[in-house]
Amino acid sequence: MEKLRAAITGVHAWVPDYRLTNDELATMVDTTDEWIMQRIGIKERRILKGERGSSYMGAKAVRGLLEKTGTSPDEVDLILVSTITPDRIFPATSNIIADKVGIKHAWGFDINAACSGFLFTLQTAVEYVESGRYKKVIVVGADKMSSITDYTDRTTCPLFGDAAAAVLLEPTTEDVGIIDHIHHVDGSGRKYLYMKAGGSVRPPSIETVTNKEHFVYQEGKVVFKFAVSRMADVSVEMMEKYNLTPETLNWLVPHQANMRIIEATAKRMGLPKEKVMINIQRYGNTTSATIPLCLYEWEDQLKKGDNIILAAFGGGFTWGAIYLKWAYDGAKKQ
Ligand code: UT7
Repeated sequence: MEKLRAAITGVHAWVPDYRLTNDELATMVDTTDEWIMQRIGIKERRILKGERGSSYMGAKAVRGLLEKTGTSPDEVDLILVSTITPDRIFPATSNIIADKVGIKHAWGFDINAACSGFLFTLQTAVEYVESGRYKKVIVVGADKMSSITDYTDRTTCPLFGDAAAAVLLEPTTEDVGIIDHIHHVDGSGRKYLYMKAGGSVRPPSIETVTNKEHFVYQEGKVVFKFAVSRMADVSVEMMEKYNLTPETLNWLVPHQANMRIIEATAKRMGLPKEKVMINIQRYGNTTSATIPLCLYEWEDQLKKGDNIILAAFGGGFTWGAIYLKWAYDGAKKQ
């Protein structure tokens, strides 16, 4: 029997209108545009205002995806959502997005793997498609990072932004689609990047709120060191495993956490900057959405058969790389 692969057959994204610039941040904390550009490489990030959560953005991305791929909500078998900022601790944001867009004959769940979330969720979806039982699977990356960012802490508030993006996965017997993954977790890194309260160990209380324990806590330097080495390790390992060279690899799609991490990863892979998707300047770190948001923005430049490596590192620690061959030419019909 022919090997069944899962291929991305469409991608869509949605970002809020509000742009939080470095100059505005400089009115909130002691920072400058120059420091942020030099150390992180972010110029502005989008912020979702009002009492709206990740499902609001995710539903917009999924609605656009269904429309542009000519997919009826009734055809969707499974919807998986990567997020660390679910609308609520329960129910899952996948349920809420499905309800909002009219997906009624599917099941789904959320996956939490911080900044590697999209890669882990994509691979989970791949396994379902490769089983032969699932024909149309939607993978969403949605995070409202502004809801867990402390805008009085200059060491973390420049980093994050809000966005959602989604891909459609379908089975194929052609020589395209997701080929392989190398994913890892190392829970001993959990103390360097996490949220101190809000879970079952330290439920919300007046004390946890007063101590600002419901925001991202990060020891930036430690995380930076691990991110640079681990993301490059798995990307280079993938290149070696498939005899990919800087010439035959068409694109690297890195998680967008820090321009210096992206540059270091590309350098270890021997890739020129033109082959690296980078939009961190405009959106910052949108956690689950960074990689599909890049695919969406570069979609019209992608060709069927392009060799692409997706790579990420995040809290947990989690990290990984996916190797895929793009399945269609240019942008799909809008
Ligand atoms: O996606 C999930 C994974 N997360 C990451 O990959 C993030 C990894 N970490 C990083 O990207 C970097 O560590 C940061 C961007 C968070 C920080 O950059 P850094 O080069 O590691 O700076 P630092 O934390 O060592 O701070 C250097 C100095 C400090 O001042 P002193 O102690 O040298 O006087 C900070 O207080 O820069 C200061 N600083 C700032 N100055 C102006 C920290 N934040 C700011 C700021 N504006 N926003």
